[in-house]
Amino acid sequence: MTSDSNAPAAAGEPEGATGAGQTLWGGRFNAKPAEIMQAINVSIGVDQRLWAQDLQGSRAHCRMLVAQRILTADDGAAILDGLDRIEGEIRDGSFPFRAEYEDIHMNVEARLAELIGVPSGRLHTARSRNDQVATDFRLWVRDACDRTLDRLKGLQGALLDRAEQHAADLMPGFTHLQPAQPVTFGHHLMAYVEMFGRDHGRFADARARLNESPLGAAALAGSPFPIDRHMTAAELGFARPMANSLDAVSDRDFALETLAAASICAGHLSRLAEEIVIWMTPQFGFVTLPDHLTTGSSIMPQKRNPDAAELVRAKTGRITGALVALTTVMKGLPLAYSKDMQEDKPPVFEAFDALDLALDAMTAMVAALQPNVERMAAAAGSGYSTATDLADWLARELNLPFRQAHHVTGAAVKRAEALGVDLAQLPLAELTALEPRVTEAVYKVLSPGASCASRLSYGGTAPDGVRARIAEWRVRLS
Ligand code: ARG
Repeated sequence: MTSDSNAPAAAGEPEGATGAGQTLWGGRFNAKPAEIMQAINVSIGVDQRLWAQDLQGSRAHCRMLVAQRILTADDGAAILDGLDRIEGEIRDGSFPFRAEYEDIHMNVEARLAELIGVPSGRLHTARSRNDQVATDFRLWVRDACDRTLDRLKGLQGALLDRAEQHAADLMPGFTHLQPAQPVTFGHHLMAYVEMFGRDHGRFADARARLNESPLGAAALAGSPFPIDRHMTAAELGFARPMANSLDAVSDRDFALETLAAASICAGHLSRLAEEIVIWMTPQFGFVTLPDHLTTGSSIMPQKRNPDAAELVRAKTGRITGALVALTTVMKGLPLAYSKDMQEDKPPVFEAFDALDLALDAMTAMVAALQPNVERMAAAAGSGYSTATDLADWLARELNLPFRQAHHVTGAAVKRAEALGVDLAQLPLAELTALEPRVTEAVYKVLSPGASCASRLSYGGTAPDGVRARIAEWRVRLS
């Protein structure tokens, strides 16, 4: 289902507004809600995605009410049985999602009344939709974090495999998208393993912080019934109940924090996607994607388009947009609950739908991309990419101050450019004309392979270092 529309996905057109007496909260009302009231208020089309969490929360609440003798065992059993039947109806598609019952919570409760009669009315004892929705939504976001953590590990695993294969294969490293210094393709891919590793950390942190139970905060002030919030928290897998009832029903920082993690992660995905797009251009020709991960053009028969990479890049808009949307909804809301907060779900659902797709598509692309290693290696030496190696050699071997070495190297590049050759092809006489102490030995550092192999500093691009980092990550991911 889409999260764009508030109308129920399963029940078609909202039925006409029912009499005030028929809404679950209609006791003090003389008039039924206007059509526009219902239209702006209804959220079942969006929040029916919380059905499993809503049933989970209701079951935990019901068992606790029985354990605390707030509810009789018979009533509790009837309610649990009714909730099971509702689950069956939702799973087989026969559950009537109805707009006049606004949201998932009241749809479930209304159906429970139809199925089991009087005891259904006791389920809402010591509970409010405010703590109910906060609980359901936390459970949903917690699941979303878990899914994302798994997906991130999968993507990191795919990157590690490719990095291992190409630990020593050369490519140009860029700054300003200009050839800068040679690196290995494995080193480049491992940069993303680090980024997605931090994304993993952010989702894990967010998950740990959100894992507290709002259930039992009731409307905003707590409950006069002898409820056991520790029991429901434990049953729902929360570490503890939230310590302040106002906070429990009124903050959505857990959703914001996960959206922030999602937004940063989407930014990383977008950068890698952009690189794949660039690498796939005929001008670069660094990688190709197999047919099953590209598309053709309906007019230009020669085209092979990186649509999946482009769409991963574009999904960032939705995901970061979701963060901005919810941040804006929450800003300036007085404590405790306000109906504004019903607008918390569409951005979160949309962001995670997009992130799930983007992570899966990226994992598939990383696993399947075919690098053209010869072409990348040839490009690795272009653009005088070993000029820094020449300057380093002059400073190291001849003890020239680095600034002077930089100047001499600049002059050498100018000569090479004038002669139309690479630095490695520049005759020794040209170099000695600039600095008389230069010897044949300098050519050993001017090849891209030697340049990479020499960068053994921790975290550098030398293949041995790259392999060591890969081995470390294999242990961390196992
Ligand atoms: N559908 C509502 C939401 O998502 C549930 C909470 C309604 N609470 C209330 N006091 N009207 O926020």
